[in-house]
Amino acid sequence: MTNKLPKDIRFLDTTLRDGEQTPGVALLTKDKLLIAHKLDTLGVKIIETGSAITSEGEREAIRAVANEGLNAEICSYCRVRQEDIDFALECDVDSIHLVVPVSDLHIEIKLKKTYTEVLQMIRDIVKYAKDKGLVVELSGEDASRANLEFLKEVYAVGIKAGADRICFCDTVGLLVPKKTSEIFEELANTFDVPIAIHCHDDFGFATANTLAALEAGATQAHVTVNGIGERAGNTSLEEVVMSLEKIYEYNTGIVLKDIYSTSRLVSRLTGIPVAPNKAIVGGNAFTHEAGIHIHGLIADTSTYEPMKPEIIGRQRKIVLGKHTGKSSVILALKELDLDVSDEQLNEIVARIKELGDKGKHVTDADFEVVAETVLGVVSEPKVKLQQFTVVSGNKVTPTASVILEINGNKIVVKSSVGDGPVDAVIGALRKGIAGVADIRLEEYHVDAITGGTDALVEVWVKLNRDGKVITARGARTDIIMASVEAVLEGINRLMK
Ligand code: KIV
Ligand code: ZN
Repeated sequence: MTNKLPKDIRFLDTTLRDGEQTPGVALLTKDKLLIAHKLDTLGVKIIETGSAITSEGEREAIRAVANEGLNAEICSYCRVRQEDIDFALECDVDSIHLVVPVSDLHIEIKLKKTYTEVLQMIRDIVKYAKDKGLVVELSGEDASRANLEFLKEVYAVGIKAGADRICFCDTVGLLVPKKTSEIFEELANTFDVPIAIHCHDDFGFATANTLAALEAGATQAHVTVNGIGERAGNTSLEEVVMSLEKIYEYNTGIVLKDIYSTSRLVSRLTGIPVAPNKAIVGGNAFTHEAGIHIHGLIADTSTYEPMKPEIIGRQRKIVLGKHTGKSSVILALKELDLDVSDEQLNEIVARIKELGDKGKHVTDADFEVVAETVLGVVSEPKVKLQQFTVVSGNKVTPTASVILEINGNKIVVKSSVGDGPVDAVIGALRKGIAGVADIRLEEYHVDAITGGTDALVEVWVKLNRDGKVITARGARTDIIMASVEAVLEGINRLMK
């Protein structure tokens, strides 16, 4: 695709500042360090690490990141106040993201100042920060609702006082791509310092607006991992990077194979799950079920994938359900090393569809049971549960013990403590089979199928044994029983 993109697009990642403003998120210093390292390895050029004025804890985190010797420029958010700059200086940052409200709404309601007073504040504070040796990026907050002539005056005054870069903030996500292009063409024709775009996703346009700005003269994009941020979030790093790489055929310099692991790390440390249908990093982004798609994928993966999952460090996933066709079943049988006749194949497909029609998520274990039943090769489970006990309460550490029969003769008794009763019993099961197999729990989900405290609970697990991954399910009215059932089912499937 031909494009008008600048030669060198830089990313300012604000996962640790705007991303941390996601309701409910508070990162510890060690978390910020882990994320900052990951962003640095990814190739992000500027890391906005927080807002130094916020608290002593925040300053400790920013200082720790600034003193890690990362390649990226380390930046603190600052308001147009001297105390903010002084706190940023205490944290040894390279640069400040100096934010000034620019819309009439913000100036009147928040700042209670006149245009003239705002311009004077900018002159004074930019000069103060530059005299202290800081790189200054001057941002207009709520710029998309500002008077464009005043906004240009803000930038002009700031640049004259020494600002190194300017940034346009679409604070409440009101831009659309066409308007963004017009504004950025105007700014790029007026100023010759680097210009950044900072978008929010209130109407779902953050990525589109960011790309439009980059095509119209912006040279820097503010982004967050997984698009986390205030309200509907910020522009997502992975969406902009992969759009540039795949659609515009533009080399961003980002280490693409680390994109998915970065997304997982941020999700884990912030506690913000990624929606399954989220572009690029969502659980379903490379998952296929429909028979017709699998047929195409087997011939050529580009039929139903815009990019190969391996590029961003992911793997393709084929799931079975009511849309399953013969192609997916043949693929799944191949993995189990099972040969079937045409008649058996048709029977397996029919039974999988039947399960799917009942609204069931067909797990790997379900598939194996169906296939083995149709082929008449049902095998004895290697691990049988004879008994388990769980103790839990407000004054005791959750503890579980299990008695297992392994391979039909060996009796193993093991116990474990855990964060809760389910964690304890899963720990005991894993200990029980430790001499025979090392199995890791990768995912655990619970769904209440019916309402009320006596609801039928469905537990779905993903287990990993030496790289072989399997999904299994347990369904009971008792969540601990359902968990034991799911894990045991998975263990037995992995030990075959
Ligand atoms: O969205 C925004 O306007 C911001 C500024 C505070 C920079 O995050
Ligand atoms: Zn923002």
